[in-house]
Amino acid sequence: MNPSQLRRNILSEHVLLRGKLSEVEAALRKVAQGEHADDAQLRGQVQQFVKSFLDHIEMENASLVPMLQGIDAWGQIRAEQVARDHDWQRAALTRLADEAKLGSTAEIVRMVETLAKQIREDIEHEEETVLSPNLLRDDPIAIDQADG
Ligand SMILES: [Fe+2]
Ligand SMILES: [Fe+2]
Repeated sequence: MNPSQLRRNILSEHVLLRGKLSEVEAALRKVAQGEHADDAQLRGQVQQFVKSFLDHIEMENASLVPMLQGIDAWGQIRAEQVARDHDWQRAALTRLADEAKLGSTAEIVRMVETLAKQIREDIEHEEETVLSPNLLRDDPIAIDQADG
């Protein structure tokens, strides 16, 4: 896969993940406001989101990280930063998945509230840095180091 294709794939997964996250938040907001909700369905929805995001992390680790490593002199550092972000995301998501299995609904609501903000910021940061079209371009000669 060439860099621009990978970039497009990742960006479209980000759109889906943001959408799923918003759906989870909307469902939890209703519960927080006292609306009756199907508890099992709610927990399943959180688990689904966690699984989708963990799959996304694995995909990026398998494709984006090695691609970044080969781009230029900063590639290794960028790749390590992405991998570090993924490590904390995986840890936080795993905690959320555990909570969605056994924890109280109130605790799930609190965790998602905190995590959603961080995850959105991470996705945005990823798009602005390592997913920049100046970096993930198909022409390897014209990379402008100043953009990195
Ligand atoms: Fe990522
Ligand atoms: Fe991503």
